[in-house]
Amino acid sequence: MNTLTHSPLAYAGSKHRALRWLLPLFPRDINGFVDLFCGAANVVANMADCGPRYANDANPAMIDIWRTLQHYDPAGLEREVDRLIARWGLDSHDPATFNRFRDHYNTCGGSPVELFVLAVHSFNQQIRFNSAGAYNSSSGKAHHWFTPTVRENLRAFIPRIRDVEFTCSDFTVFDFTRLNADGFVYADPPYTLGTAVYNDRPHGTTPWTVDDDRRLFTLLDELGAHGIRFALSNVMEHKGRINEPLQEWVESRGLLVYGINIDYASCNYQNRNRQHATQEVLVTNYRPDGFSQDTLF
Ligand SMILES: C[S@@+](CC[C@H](N)C(=O)[O-])C[C@H]1O[C@@H](n2cnc3c(N)ncnc32)[C@H](O)[C@@H]1O
Repeated sequence: MNTLTHSPLAYAGSKHRALRWLLPLFPRDINGFVDLFCGAANVVANMADCGPRYANDANPAMIDIWRTLQHYDPAGLEREVDRLIARWGLDSHDPATFNRFRDHYNTCGGSPVELFVLAVHSFNQQIRFNSAGAYNSSSGKAHHWFTPTVRENLRAFIPRIRDVEFTCSDFTVFDFTRLNADGFVYADPPYTLGTAVYNDRPHGTTPWTVDDDRRLFTLLDELGAHGIRFALSNVMEHKGRINEPLQEWVESRGLLVYGINIDYASCNYQNRNRQHATQEVLVTNYRPDGFSQDTLF
């Protein structure tokens, strides 16, 4: 496996900490990869030797950023970010500098690079817009700025998304005819169980609900019927509550379920602490190489 790269943007529901468990569960012979809910693009950026790569998300701000940044040479992009930081005097100890830059972005219809710089300096790096479409995240103060780590992540990340085709649509609208039987679809939707933060929604869209989960199950069923392999990230159990719609779907279709224990040194379900607050899982319609037994069901 290549060295893992992290998105330069933190993101609610980001899979960067789960990658080392997820990637070994993906098929090895992929020709055509879709990251259907790409968010901060952590997963697609770490896919290599898999043919054409597609990344979709319903969040237009996110997709605008990646579509723009992917064409920069990393050194040139760093210079542009440094120039903006200097131009606006962005100072992590002085939120007023952030507010002035944000006002400029909102009045002048700023560029995706400006939005990226705003996001890097925002509270929790959250990209938020009010109902009028104005950027309204607050300053990340001393916690979120263009740190050496973010700079390093940006430098490594850009070349890894260079040839990705980004699309912005509801997941049902994605054109799956681009995939053939060697294709693979990874779905990482917002979670409905016990994860209010994950259910952050892009401006102009409605919150993710159990009905959306069912729409997604139907779509994945159709992909499976066309012989396409898929993997779905989700939460099966949270503080003793079971995700019943997910469990019913998995059982009725005979899908495989792998525990993803981000905080533990193993993804073997048997080893996990049963009191652990949230059981993240990867549901697959194929048996990953080298994982014959360790399924939840
Ligand atoms: C859990 S996050 C994905 C995180 C991503 N895997 C990462 O590592 O950064 C879920 C994503 O689904 C997107 N989303 C929400 N509703 C959607 C929809 N109807 N169609 C496509 N994407 C949607 C959100 O904008 C969010 O980026």
